[in-house]
Amino acid sequence: MLFRGLLGIAFGLVVALPAWAGPDGAELYVRKGCIACHRMKGVPGATGTMGADLTKFWKPVKGEPPKDPREIAAFIKDPRLNNPNTSMPTIGLTSEEAAAIATYLLSKDKPAPSSKK
Ligand code: HEC
Repeated sequence: MLFRGLLGIAFGLVVALPAWAGPDGAELYVRKGCIACHRMKGVPGATGTMGADLTKFWKPVKGEPPKDPREIAAFIKDPRLNNPNTSMPTIGLTSEEAAAIATYLLSKDKPAPSSKK
């Protein structure tokens, strides 16, 4: 577990070093298969219904504290963290990828997946 974490950090550093904008959350949402289970308005192929529709995920929920991007990222990276029985699979993302997706999910105006890759 610790070893995997360290590997993740090392890999993240290698990925983060080049002077590019970092992982593209919108693109990852499609490429990593989130769309198989989570709908997202305007994203072609995002038709899955096993998980929630995340189009309005950015919206604050009444009576709940604001969503913390770091907590969301931690959940996306390892859904079993707080609930070992969750039916959301562990996709195997780096911390940077999970953070990029969390930022994407929490932004109100979602950029379209970029075609640069
Ligand atoms: C095999 C289907 C499946 C895939 C693939 C999947 N999810 Fe999920 N996801 C779920 C399910 C089911 C839940 C509800 C989990 C629970 O309540 O324990 C969930 C929950 C979530 C939540 C919390 C939703 C809320 O309203 O609190 C987020 C955020 C999320 N997923 C993001 C993602 C992202 C990002 C990806 C891609 C990296 C992804 N999911 C891939 C099935 C999936």
